[in-house]
Amino acid sequence: MPVIFRHKGYSFFFFSNEGIPLESCHTPIMAITMKNIRPSSIHTLELGEMENFVYLIQDHSSKTAAVVDPAWEVPKVIALAQHQGYQITDVLLTHSHYDHTNGLHEILNIYDAQIHLLEIEAQFWGQQLKNPHLHKDGDIISIGDTKITIWHTPGHTPGSACYSLDGHLITGDTLFVYGCGRCDLEESDPGQMYDSLERLATQFSSQTVIHPGHHYAQKPSSTIEEQLEGNPFMHFDKKEDFVRYRMYEHNRETPYTPVKLPLKKKLGISRMAKKVFKHLSS
Ligand SMILES: [Fe+2]
Repeated sequence: MPVIFRHKGYSFFFFSNEGIPLESCHTPIMAITMKNIRPSSIHTLELGEMENFVYLIQDHSSKTAAVVDPAWEVPKVIALAQHQGYQITDVLLTHSHYDHTNGLHEILNIYDAQIHLLEIEAQFWGQQLKNPHLHKDGDIISIGDTKITIWHTPGHTPGSACYSLDGHLITGDTLFVYGCGRCDLEESDPGQMYDSLERLATQFSSQTVIHPGHHYAQKPSSTIEEQLEGNPFMHFDKKEDFVRYRMYEHNRETPYTPVKLPLKKKLGISRMAKKVFKHLSS
């Protein structure tokens, strides 16, 4: 029985036991405009033993695609691309941890794809990569007609990245649905994580759809608005309070559920809380 979730312009696939996509689905990212269809789609695959999300961004006009964080079960990613008639030309990495990159060489053995990651993450990783495109914050990556912006959001790792396109934001292990990435790993920095979350909160519209690196909540994606309201990591006025919570106090189990924003925070002075209050009062 084919099972596909559709939510705000992307699709979420399940596979047969043979690894074949259970249904062809081609959902445009945004609504159809007066003259044309949005140039791309995002398809979500949950793969591997750590509940990783791997994304396939498909550019409709060129029939080319980018894989975000290839890992675990690469044949399923390839089967999906081939099933829909797309050539994988690019690989986007949110960060270098093993659970997000262990399928990289398998993809590159089949496709002559361009690797993209932030330069600072490549330095942290120290891997020999075949001709990688090393980016800086704000660079634009083109996949056919699809323009993708790379954002430097350190904290989980020094060069963690998010990728934005057409009202969607792929957040890696920076922002999860009602959670955020660990900051107790090698070269993690909880203070930087606070700044990165504040950046996402203040620079993206409330309706931006987020796509995290792991399936740690009851639903695979959310919006910035829902995170401002229900993600406890986005409720702090002071960085030192955030750091203490992230490093020592946080003990919630997955699947994460929303945490109510305390009323006093709605009236507080943090930029994140102010944004929530502005939304709730409008
Ligand atoms: Fe990670």
